[in-house]
Amino acid sequence: MATRKRPASTTTTPGSIASVMQEDRRFPPSNEFASHAHIGSARALRALHDHAAQDVVAYWEEQARELAWFAPWKKPLVWKHPHAQWFVGGTTNVAMNCLDRHLGTWRRTKAALIWEGEPGDVRTLTYQQLHTEVCRAANVLEQLGVQRGDVVAIYMGMVPETVIAMLACARIGATHNVIFGGFSSDALRDRINDSSAKLLITQDGAWRRGETIPLKAAADVALKKTPSIRNVLVVQRTAEKCAMKSGRDHWWHLRLQAADARHEPPALPSEHPLFILYTSGSTGKPKGILHTTGGYLTQVASTTKMVFDLRDDDVYFCTADVGWITGHSYVVYGPLANGATILMYEGAPNWPESDRVWDLIERHHVSIFYTAPTAIRSFMKWGESWPRKHDLSSLRLLGTVGEPINPEAWMWYHDVIGGGRCPIVDTWWQTETGAIMISPVPGATVTKPGTATKPLPGISVDVVHADGTPCKANVGGLLVVTHPWPSMARTIVGDDERYRETYWGMFPKTRTSAGWYFTGDGARKDRDGYIWIIGRVDDVVNVSGHRLGTAEIESALVSHPMVAEAAVVARPDAIKGNALVAFVSLKTGARIKNLPALKQELRTHVGKEIGQIAKPDDVRFSESLPKTRSGKIMRRLLRELVSGAAVMGDMTTLEDFSVLEKLRSSDED
Ligand code: WTA
Repeated sequence: MATRKRPASTTTTPGSIASVMQEDRRFPPSNEFASHAHIGSARALRALHDHAAQDVVAYWEEQARELAWFAPWKKPLVWKHPHAQWFVGGTTNVAMNCLDRHLGTWRRTKAALIWEGEPGDVRTLTYQQLHTEVCRAANVLEQLGVQRGDVVAIYMGMVPETVIAMLACARIGATHNVIFGGFSSDALRDRINDSSAKLLITQDGAWRRGETIPLKAAADVALKKTPSIRNVLVVQRTAEKCAMKSGRDHWWHLRLQAADARHEPPALPSEHPLFILYTSGSTGKPKGILHTTGGYLTQVASTTKMVFDLRDDDVYFCTADVGWITGHSYVVYGPLANGATILMYEGAPNWPESDRVWDLIERHHVSIFYTAPTAIRSFMKWGESWPRKHDLSSLRLLGTVGEPINPEAWMWYHDVIGGGRCPIVDTWWQTETGAIMISPVPGATVTKPGTATKPLPGISVDVVHADGTPCKANVGGLLVVTHPWPSMARTIVGDDERYRETYWGMFPKTRTSAGWYFTGDGARKDRDGYIWIIGRVDDVVNVSGHRLGTAEIESALVSHPMVAEAAVVARPDAIKGNALVAFVSLKTGARIKNLPALKQELRTHVGKEIGQIAKPDDVRFSESLPKTRSGKIMRRLLRELVSGAAVMGDMTTLEDFSVLEKLRSSDED
């Protein structure tokens, strides 16, 4: 294996980001790993690709047959551009697939969920026990009037009840809308209202770094303006005091204790809405991405098995919060559909010390570990001594997701955490794709640090220019998906037009083209056909692996009484991948006594409007923002400005854009 890295000539297309590193290192799977893998050679993988390519729909039918169905489908795919329906006519139930069907096997007593709380308390739920809890919760939801097709909002931390709540919704055919526990009351309110949720499940408080975050109190603020919510179920976690409104609020544990532990899963149509998950886009309003039942579970289950080479004796640990798509697909549904043992951890990775994750891996004998590059960069910063204190020999496979991983972090992950023996699966996908699309298959793919390698069998992607022509090797372009796939988003809730425009408007269906899904990512394909993600080409940024829309943050800033205009751009950050810089111009006549205090106030304001994760790292004030003649803020210019080290002075002083104004006439964006 080569261990050399050299700078390469940069290849760019106008407006795209150049990739500056040519990575020559290659890591074939070890014989040891390959000999035990489900797909154990490049030849076997090629054969599977060829098989899938011959009839891609038939391939997905084979995958769907791995699940349990009440009634078989009549049509595997109904494709009316840009809307897909998979396994039409088939009926199934996601919770039945994740639980009931394991009960008739030896897995009945297998640990489904090993959960560790931040204070160190551990709970293990076997498949039988998890099933019992889910049945009780399903009965409680039905008692509270939740019907098939109703939306249930879930605003919780990483506790077993979150998984139980999701599965209970899936079981009765309610559509869950999980809202990340780090979001503010305002963000919660908007997401409840946009989805017209009928019931909210939350918890008293959540543990984080030795303190509790009062989730119920935050929910109470939102609940003042959520007319659709009829009932609230409150899980007791921290036992802190919280207000309970009689007739509306119910303790989860009391209700569940009293509920029947039997519940028959209904047969739901394959296209029944399973969940809505809000994600950021390039306007101020988050998008409610809709996923449905049969196709989603098919691809999520199939990719979990293939990409993580899942075996029955694995202990699988994905650090994602259930508030994000990774938590949905690869903490809950994919692993449980495969009968896996999941480790779930409640709190911060550096609590009480910076080795909590390694300690968890050692004590629970974790064999598969799936995390984000931003976490890996933090681990690197905290230092090698922390993992070195622990026996990590149980690990056999490592994964990453959420943003491009820089080769340095990849190598550290490989050497320090994987002990040089664990393959790394760098998995590319999105909230909208529902499941992993581009990834190594660990027993078969030769990996290179920094690339998600190639699309999985049954998935067709390409890198193209804006006019749709394919990019030559190593030329940067736009990443598209060229054939519908089972776990694709079905629409944006309440705004199908936006769904069409955002994803299908760029490469529309014409007489000569079938129409492609545009991912919003820039990428290049190398000579081996490996795909290197360059980054987003829209106004979406990845901060610490969280996807944020700059427009959302801008509208939060503009909602402050002193702010006239705001532009938010990203600058590279060694740990977080990107940091946010907000340029703000204040209303005429706004009297500012103390700029640093105002800066702080604006950051707090964004925290209140959206959540801590969206707080800008820098706030810079300016009399005006540089604009094109048509009045568009020249974000590209601002991006360049914040990326160039020398340009900016003290961040609390006023920026003078008068020089840049001169560019107006010549530099339209
Ligand atoms: C980025 C997370 C490079 C990408 C599952 C995508 C990645 C966005 C990778 C989706 C990867 C995700 N390499 N970039 N392996 N995985 N991304 O919806 O820009 O939170 O469009 O889904 O994350 O973010 P989302």
